[in-house]
Amino acid sequence: MKGLKESWLNSEKMPLVIEPTESMSFKEALKLISSQKEILANKLLGPGALLFRNFPISDASDFSEFIKTIDEGKFLDYIGGDSPRNKVKDGVYTSTEAPPSIKIPLHNELSFVKNYPKKIYFYCHIAPQEKGETTIADARKIYSAMDEHVKMKFNDKGLQYISNYFYKSSIMDFLNKVQRSHKSWVDVFETNQKDSVETKCLENDFEFAWGKKDWLRVCQKRPSVMAHPITKDTVWFNQAHLYDFNPKLLGWWRYLGVKLFYFQKYTRLHEIAFGDGSPIPRKDLYHILDVLESHTIYFPWQKGDILMLDNVLAMHGRATFTGKRRIFAAMTG
Ligand SMILES: [Fe+2]
Repeated sequence: MKGLKESWLNSEKMPLVIEPTESMSFKEALKLISSQKEILANKLLGPGALLFRNFPISDASDFSEFIKTIDEGKFLDYIGGDSPRNKVKDGVYTSTEAPPSIKIPLHNELSFVKNYPKKIYFYCHIAPQEKGETTIADARKIYSAMDEHVKMKFNDKGLQYISNYFYKSSIMDFLNKVQRSHKSWVDVFETNQKDSVETKCLENDFEFAWGKKDWLRVCQKRPSVMAHPITKDTVWFNQAHLYDFNPKLLGWWRYLGVKLFYFQKYTRLHEIAFGDGSPIPRKDLYHILDVLESHTIYFPWQKGDILMLDNVLAMHGRATFTGKRRIFAAMTG
């Protein structure tokens, strides 16, 4: 690639690092990326992850311009997403605001939504001093490593995701202050108009029902596995493991807190079942968490890095961290 050099960061060969061969201005960098965008799109189909390093990217605006220049689809809003995050500017969000002590297991972004993002991008504005990696893995390898029986069940039955969102609730506001966890449907759908929420639900094939005090219950039926639209590779593509609250996912103290305090008393944030409504054995979910854990790739962030993932071929998550960490995220479809 003219003006660009490539290398691997690790023996897993993920991500592929792309760097400019000489220092340049931001404008020149955009010009260079634009001239190589088809080659870069093709490169992405190999490892599923490209790390753009040592480009002059200094803020969320540069990040947004860089993505527009790569030209892989339009920005998507985070409609239907449950993870706590804030919108920084059009199409750019903070990456999850989940507490630093929580490890986010690998997942494909919004795999439970029909209009899932095809690409996801992360930009490192403040690199964490300790840990705080954005973890990644190859979803093809995850699929291959799953137990055949689990794979067959998930493939045959598909999944049913249920989410419950509050409207205005002082109890939920208080709980979110203690530990940010629940989102209101105003945040999830980026509107406070119920008819707009209903339109967005219909556009995305969400079944929905309004409950007491304007709580909203949303149900999505989705497959567990999919074939990549271009490479046709079969990949694990679901978030069953993040929708079941269990000690392995949350840790015992958090699990007990959730169980004893508000989980039983107030409406549940998440529920998961097979597509026919039958329960998913917890041992299957634990097996999935184990496979994900054993395939997790960590790499340290450097300020100015942009990570571009094919959201079908590559999964991502977040390690725990301490201190400051500022990573922005964006998605295109
Ligand atoms: Fe994510």
